[in-house]
Amino acid sequence: MLHLPSPDAAQTWCQQQRSNGRTIGFVPTMGSLHRGHLSLIKRACSENEICCVSIFVNPLQFEDSKDYNAYPRNLDSDLTTLEQQGCTMVFVGSLGQFFPEIVDLQEIKTLGAGRYGRGLEGTFRPGHLDGVQTIVDRLFRTVGPSHVYFGEKDFQQTLVVSDLAAEIGYPQVVVCPTIRDDSGLALSSRNALLSPHQKKQAQGIYQALLAAHQAWALGERQPEILASTMMEVMKDTDLGVDYAEVRDPSAWTETMPKAPLQQAQALIAAHIGQVRLIDTLRLDSRPLEELIAVT
Ligand code: PAF
Repeated sequence: MLHLPSPDAAQTWCQQQRSNGRTIGFVPTMGSLHRGHLSLIKRACSENEICCVSIFVNPLQFEDSKDYNAYPRNLDSDLTTLEQQGCTMVFVGSLGQFFPEIVDLQEIKTLGAGRYGRGLEGTFRPGHLDGVQTIVDRLFRTVGPSHVYFGEKDFQQTLVVSDLAAEIGYPQVVVCPTIRDDSGLALSSRNALLSPHQKKQAQGIYQALLAAHQAWALGERQPEILASTMMEVMKDTDLGVDYAEVRDPSAWTETMPKAPLQQAQALIAAHIGQVRLIDTLRLDSRPLEELIAVT
């Protein structure tokens, strides 16, 4: 596996690969890799001639410097993992290397996340999705991938980056299923910051999503009622809920729709101690038994 020290070096290498006619599958990450990332990398490796991964904890997408500083970093073990997974090239970089044209890095102007940036994460983490959009734009231009792989867990992020990809004309965005541990907790690098007790409390998030799924299966279509079903499950836990809402995934709305839904994506963000977790579940597709079998 090739380990390149800068976006510049990565861009030159990727250009060479593309001119040799090779397709590049790309997985952008902030490191601290877990099985969720590995599922994306496996897919990128199997569907493309080249599998490229970036590791960069992007300060532009953290509104709070404490959260940025606390974000887990494990570069050495990440590199070993990537090598074992058959990744072709990994690159890292600093903010200055990603934005060489900007002298004072405080002056970086973020791109707007667009219509999908409104509501939910856009409300509770103002600027976060703009920061994601800004770095993902740079990453796409650095790598020039044919396919890029994101996890469904960050559902609103997948909408924002798909919109960006449609605007610049590449790459094809592949959204992969959320990977969960045995308790149903969605894998996230932030889980490493949870105590065993907090991990147990955090299971309430998936339980709430499953309750919404069950209500949907029984015929409930009112977003408000599906949302209060989720809140009910989480009310006796230590979770501080930012939001528990349901949206039509094909027609993003800034606030929760009022009319009954035909398609539905349930989305939750909640704090446990200092750690903020997000999770999501499509309500109108897979039967509940199948979901439970996954966990
Ligand atoms: O999902 C993430 O890990 C990050 O938001 C991403 C896409 C790597 C951009 O920094």
